[in-house]
Amino acid sequence: MSLAFDLRPHPHPRTAEERAAILVDPGFGVHFTDHMAVATWTSTDGWADSAIVPYGPFTLDPATAVLHYAQEIFEGLKAYRHADGSVWLFRPDQNAARMSRSARRMALPELAEEDFLASIDALISADEAWVPAGASGTGAASESSEQSLYLRPFMFASESFLGVRASRRVTYCCIASPAGPYFASGVHPVRIWVSTTYNRSGPGGTGAAKTGGNYASSLLAQAEAAEKGFDQVMFTDAVEQRWVEELGGMNVYLVTADHELVTPALSGTILEGVTRDSILTLAREFGLTPVERQISLSELLEGIDSGFVSEVFACGTAAVITPIGLLADGEGDHKVGAGDTGEVTSALRKNLLDLQYGRAADPHGWMRRVL
Ligand SMILES: Cc1ncc(COP(=O)(O)O)c(C=O)c1O
Repeated sequence: MSLAFDLRPHPHPRTAEERAAILVDPGFGVHFTDHMAVATWTSTDGWADSAIVPYGPFTLDPATAVLHYAQEIFEGLKAYRHADGSVWLFRPDQNAARMSRSARRMALPELAEEDFLASIDALISADEAWVPAGASGTGAASESSEQSLYLRPFMFASESFLGVRASRRVTYCCIASPAGPYFASGVHPVRIWVSTTYNRSGPGGTGAAKTGGNYASSLLAQAEAAEKGFDQVMFTDAVEQRWVEELGGMNVYLVTADHELVTPALSGTILEGVTRDSILTLAREFGLTPVERQISLSELLEGIDSGFVSEVFACGTAAVITPIGLLADGEGDHKVGAGDTGEVTSALRKNLLDLQYGRAADPHGWMRRVL
């Protein structure tokens, strides 16, 4: 039986003025809407107690399992308002499927796709006023004004016990946060530090699951990169430190002189991004051959230096597509092309944004209308 997410309205939601003040410049992940979706799973009864409730803190026993053993997973997707006022999600079925894969890996219960989608639909309906106006205008001006409602579904071990075993009680929740344009001052290529000291994940580990520990283990590498003056870290494989994997929160692509759009193959250690998958499909529309294979770090850096690799970019829900202007390992800097945003990178980015904001046709049926 599917779950119902009935609304228990917030007794004191923010006023229209308070909300408007936040939506002027929402930033990313700092403001939250008035409600959240919740459901609880127990090993005896399965999923129950689903509802949309006032946004607010959880009360957690100090022995709550997630605080000790990190049994938790999450997702990230956005709701986009189109020019006619309607509200849409981009491939939310893919997030539901990934959440199920993550759940299996982390010994958490799966939430059916229809329940995952129902929780999001109900939350957006309750907090529709928090979905910012999408984009206005065209071209670069519209890109820098693009806003959305970021959705963060997550699930954690909420049984109070000390002992290493799967939790018999699990809490599901989805919160929503209005998000401003990721690149408020326009799209600028980022500088990447390649870490061969720290790994994000290893064979048989949890790299393909969206679980907090992967991100916790990336923080020190990210801090070291920032200290050296870089924006983000690129991780290599844990066995040979030889193969390109991904950034801390984005997948990676490169464009070659023979018109291939190449991304590291899914090896079980990389997160399967929804944006990554969408770009594989879009490649042919741009006259490029999509290729998933192993890419060695030396191949990448030598290709950049020779000009054979003409563009490198990162991709993910938050920033869509981020051009990479420079990569550095301990041995030197490697500037990609002229160091600015490449043609393919710009065109793919524009295509994805146009689709998401309803400015382009949706031949793949990727958009799902909520309101
Ligand atoms: C480690 C990692 N890789 C890749 C991605 C990109 O995934 P998506 O395109 O589904 O946002 C994300 C973001 O969710 C991520 O956290």
